[in-house]
Amino acid sequence: MEQKGTDCMREWSGKDIRILERTASSSEEIPAAFRVSSAAPVRRFHQRMPGYAETPLLAFPALARQLKVRGVYAKDESKRFSLNAFKGLVGSYAMFRILCEKLSLDPSETTLHDLTSGEIRERIRKFEFVTCTDGNHGRGVSWAAGLFGCRAHIYMPAGTREVRAEAIRRVGPAEVVVTELSYDDTVRLAKETSERNGWILIQDTSWDGYEKIPAWIIQGYLTLAMETTEQLKRRSVRPTHVFLQAGVGAMAGGVLACFADYYGEKRPVAVIVEPDAANCIYASAKAGDGKAHSVEGIAATMMAGLNCGTPCSITWPILRDHADYYVSCADPVAALGMRAYAAGLDGDPALVSGESGAATFGAAVCILTDARLADARSAMKLSSDSVLLFISTEGDTDPDNYRKIVGCAKETNIM
Ligand SMILES: Cc1ncc(COP(=O)(O)O)c(C=O)c1O
Repeated sequence: MEQKGTDCMREWSGKDIRILERTASSSEEIPAAFRVSSAAPVRRFHQRMPGYAETPLLAFPALARQLKVRGVYAKDESKRFSLNAFKGLVGSYAMFRILCEKLSLDPSETTLHDLTSGEIRERIRKFEFVTCTDGNHGRGVSWAAGLFGCRAHIYMPAGTREVRAEAIRRVGPAEVVVTELSYDDTVRLAKETSERNGWILIQDTSWDGYEKIPAWIIQGYLTLAMETTEQLKRRSVRPTHVFLQAGVGAMAGGVLACFADYYGEKRPVAVIVEPDAANCIYASAKAGDGKAHSVEGIAATMMAGLNCGTPCSITWPILRDHADYYVSCADPVAALGMRAYAAGLDGDPALVSGESGAATFGAAVCILTDARLADARSAMKLSSDSVLLFISTEGDTDPDNYRKIVGCAKETNIM
């Protein structure tokens, strides 16, 4: 990809959306841990898990026609392990690696079955995990704790809707506590509690001194990335643009690293999408000093999974150096994406995608249709030749809000 100078930061504003072009002049190598060559053992682990199946990659030809692009594809992660979201991939893989390490077992020689049988099962029962979550990660951890027979404690930030806490309790044995704190402060609480009680912190973000477990979490996303590249290849499709949503940016960074390695010079233009209320990747890119920056406060957005104020320290350099555009958007953008996916236009599938799952598609629809964003479209090389790829990371994880927003989706006209 062409390297841009640091002196001409371009930014565009449309209705409910802002777009920033990458200006970072640094270009760190993609870490070996997130390259294609690291994906095989992760996939082997997932493939042996009960209920594993590749999630569908859906094509939306009618939406593509409406948007005047060549193709629109979305991977439906609501089908992942019956958890209605993608995060089961990462809680399970990280927990597996932690337990292997605790028991001095070689992960390449160990299976889930080995860990859950006989004497090892008894030894594992004493381990207790703790994490902070806005919902989906906690569900993955609670579910994985059930699979391995461990205990888990899950803290959730202020403003968490009860339906999200209940969904965690339903899939596994975790104890769930909704705090009065922001997401970032709840992460700090989980960390302090782990130190006080000897519980293992299994957090889906990293900071200085806490990187080994988050790196396993991020590796968990390689299964998603490699499934996607293979599904596209089977259809002889090469995406020109990939839109990835970010909370802390761990998923976006892991997937982007793997895509960048897989596609090399021909990698798709990468667009990172966040809510205005918690746009720490956007703010970090805009600061232009190469460092990660936090945005503060208890931010209000219905994109609960993206409501994180501090970038993941491991993936920030990947997003800084290998993404091309950063998008910050308001809730109506996510709502637009949810309705457009659900519309099932002219034989397209009707995809149930939640607030954080559909934010990227909503952002793409805005960029492609807002008259004020014509310059952004041309800078981003969006044209009738474009093939757009999205990861719908969740289904209707907040069913009441989903119903409120999608309502009569069939009548949606995205233009
Ligand atoms: C549905 C959904 N999409 C995307 C994300 C963003 O992942 P990350 O925090 O790794 O950026 C999350 C995080 O919880 C999520 O729940």
